[in-house]
Formats: sequence, structure tokens, C-alpha cells
Amino acid sequence: MKKNDIPKTNTDEEIKETAANAESELNEYELSVLRSRYDELDDDRSKIPPPEKKNQNKLVKFAKKNTLAAVVISVFAVALAAAVILLVVYAVNTFLISESKRDYRFTFGEEEIKVKYEETVINDVLYVDMNKLAEFTQMSVSGSAETMKYIVSADQYLKFTDDSEYAVINASKVSISAPAVVKDGKCLVPYSVISKAVASGLTFKSDSVRNTVDIKRVTYTVDDVEYNEDITFSTEDFKVVQAIQSTAGVEFEYTKDVSAYLEYIDPRDNSPYLVLVNADNPLSSSYVPQNLSAIPSSYTAIGEIYELENCAAQALIAMIRDMNAESANNGAYVTSAYRSYAYQLALFEGYIEDYVKKGYSASEAEAEVLKTSARPGTSEHQSGLCVDFITTAMKNGLNNDDFESTRAFEWLSKNSYKYGFILRYPEDKTDLTSYSYESWHFRFVGRTAATEMYVSGLCLEEYLELI
Ligand code: DAL
Ligand code: ZN
Repeated sequence: MKKNDIPKTNTDEEIKETAANAESELNEYELSVLRSRYDELDDDRSKIPPPEKKNQNKLVKFAKKNTLAAVVISVFAVALAAAVILLVVYAVNTFLISESKRDYRFTFGEEEIKVKYEETVINDVLYVDMNKLAEFTQMSVSGSAETMKYIVSADQYLKFTDDSEYAVINASKVSISAPAVVKDGKCLVPYSVISKAVASGLTFKSDSVRNTVDIKRVTYTVDDVEYNEDITFSTEDFKVVQAIQSTAGVEFEYTKDVSAYLEYIDPRDNSPYLVLVNADNPLSSSYVPQNLSAIPSSYTAIGEIYELENCAAQALIAMIRDMNAESANNGAYVTSAYRSYAYQLALFEGYIEDYVKKGYSASEAEAEVLKTSARPGTSEHQSGLCVDFITTAMKNGLNNDDFESTRAFEWLSKNSYKYGFILRYPEDKTDLTSYSYESWHFRFVGRTAATEMYVSGLCLEEYLELI
């Protein structure tokens, strides 16, 4: 429809209708124009030549090249990822190891102490510094080069010896899981040992992730006043291998009145009478006991004068008095007591000479003599604390066969402890005493120790280890 084809009308209705028709006709016209243009375009598109093969090859090559690159990149990416993962694992591991090996933090009550890991973990065992613990708890400490003792009271104490599989808890020798380290007055004890040995008065907590050890006092309150609970030790969690038995029920019966002798028999402080003298523990050549007292001549061979340290001498008198009163003596008398260094030297050399005369070489003779006689300085006769008995019937000098069969030996071996004496070199302890059995040699140690050794079947070396 063209402008000129639009009829001239007069009414509004006619105008509207005419306009609507014109619009739809116009749309159809526009559509037809568009269609014809589209067809023309289609024709043009069909005229475009297909891409040349050469170009196609280029594309394939490009695509192929890119695939290879993609593969290479993927391989690299996977390798890189693996490397990163390995690095992370390594870093985490390293971090964790260094975390576990970091320094320890010990807390003793309020005090915090940092200790280097390698100073407190030895062979994978966590150790506690006993001197620090003693300082915190006010335990007293005594020690030698190899052994340290931590004392709460006379019957509550611990003893540790360097590199030993045993420890002492209140007079009992116990097996421990790892040895203590004792050096230069310092003592490290396995945490597992000390935490189990303490029965009361302290709490122990350890954290092996944070590397902390927390030791606290246990307290109680009375009338608003706070007190520390007493520290006690126990062998309950340990295997006891040897112990000093209780002597609580032992009665001391005497034949004669010993009241004047009791202070000597049972001295208040018996520590001077526990001195150990042997090949490993010599006395100096100049050592002479103070307070030497003569033994009554009625107890020695006619014309012989023997001396003992005074306490030991008084206890010996009380013992022989009772032995005689029980008619147990049958001719026993003292044949040796205190011997000076010089005297022991003369004895020792004399014995060696006897063997040499029998055809022994000097070294063979010395080895033979050492089984029964001490080198000068290593004889406890120099301490003035021991005596040798012999009987008038014994014509062949000191020998076990003769002396063991005497009533005196029987009586002494059963009763000497009551007077503070022990059979010093028993038959079943020769490996510990390093001397042959001597049924005639009795040593003064004081009644308490002598009774404990008698009841427990311990020789002096064993007993000293336990106290
Ligand atoms: N007969 C002992 C061991 C001494 O000589 O001391
Ligand atoms: Zn002797």
C-alpha cells in the first residue's frame, strides 16, 4: 500500500480500520523486504569458497602441537604437585620432630625451669634432676662420686648409684627400669622411677606432647593454716631384690647385767662404727683410732696386750662376760685386735715370705696371702673395731675346722649381735667381702646395725648399700 492508495474517509472508525490494515500490510511488506535480503545473503554465503586444505593442515598441526604442550605441561604440573606434597610432608615431619625435641619445662611448685631436651631425655628416657627436687622439697642430700642419697627422715630415703639397674628405697634394694646418672654431685633419675617411688606428699604430671613436667606439693589445711603433706616413699611398684628386715620384735636378753655397757653396745650415733675397710676402701697409713682401750688381760693370751677402740672394747667385755657366764667359752681368747699399719705390713710380708719359702713365686705368694690377709691399709684390724678369737685347744693357728667346732663359735655366731658384733667374713659372702670365710673374726658395728644384719642375713658390704 502506498500513500496514494490510502482512501480518504471521514469517520474515526474508518480511519482506524484503514490505519490497522495499512500497518499489517506495511509489516508484510517489511517482512518481504527482509526475506528477500536474507535470500540474497544466503546466496552470498554459498559463494564463499571452503577453506583451503593447506590451512586445514596448519590447524591440525597447531592442535597437535598444543596437545603435546598440554601433555608436557600436565606432566610438569603433576611432578610439581608431587614435589609440593613431598615438601609439605617433610616440613610437617620436621616441624613435628623439632616440636617433640624441644626443651622441657619443669615446674617445681611455682618455680619454672627450662631444661634442654638432650639434657633431660637420655636414651629416650625422661629424667628428673634429683637435686632440684631435693631443693624444692628440702630433702637433705649426701653423696659420693657414684652414689647419691636423698633423705626425708631416718626411714624415708632414696639412694641412686650411677649406671646401676638398682636403687634403694627405704632400706630395700629395688630393680629400676633405667639407670640413674650420677656425676659431679648431680643426679638424674628416670621420671618413671621417682614418680612411682614417691608415695605421698608430691604429685607428678608429665606431658610428652608439650614437653612439660609438673611437680607439686600436696597440702592440707588446719584452722586456715596450710601445711605440706609429709613426703614418703614406697617400694610397692617395684621388684624388691634385697631388704633390711624389721627388727621390731627382737628382744635383747643378757645373762649378766649389761646396763653399764649399753651405751657402748648400742651407741646413739653408730655411724663411726660402720666404716668399711677393704681392698677398695683403705685407711691411710697414718690412721690410728682415737680412744684405744686395752682388752682385759684375762681375755687374751698370757702376756699379750691387745687394744680396741673404746666403744668396741667395752662391748667386747660385755660379750665375753656373758659367754663365760654361760660356760660357752671353753678356752676361747682374743688373739688379735687393733693392728697398726706397720704391724699389718710386717704380718703381710711375713706371710708372703712363708709362701716364697714353700716355692711360690712372689706374685703367686701375694695372690695366696691376699685370700686370707689384707694388704696394709686395707685391714679392718687397723680400724680397732674387730677381734680374732682362738681357743687353747687350737694348736694349728686360726682355722675354720677347729674354731667352728667350738662351743665359743656356736655361742658367738648366735649371740654376738646383741653386743653389737657381726661375723664379718661369712662363708656364703666371700664374693662380696673378697676374703675367705673367717669363723673367728668378729667386727663391732653397734647393736642396731648388727641386729639388722643378723636378722636380714646381710654382710657389711650389702648392709651399707641399703642404708
Ligand atoms: N684377716 C683379715 C682379712 C685381715 O687381715 O684384716
Ligand atoms: Zn681378723
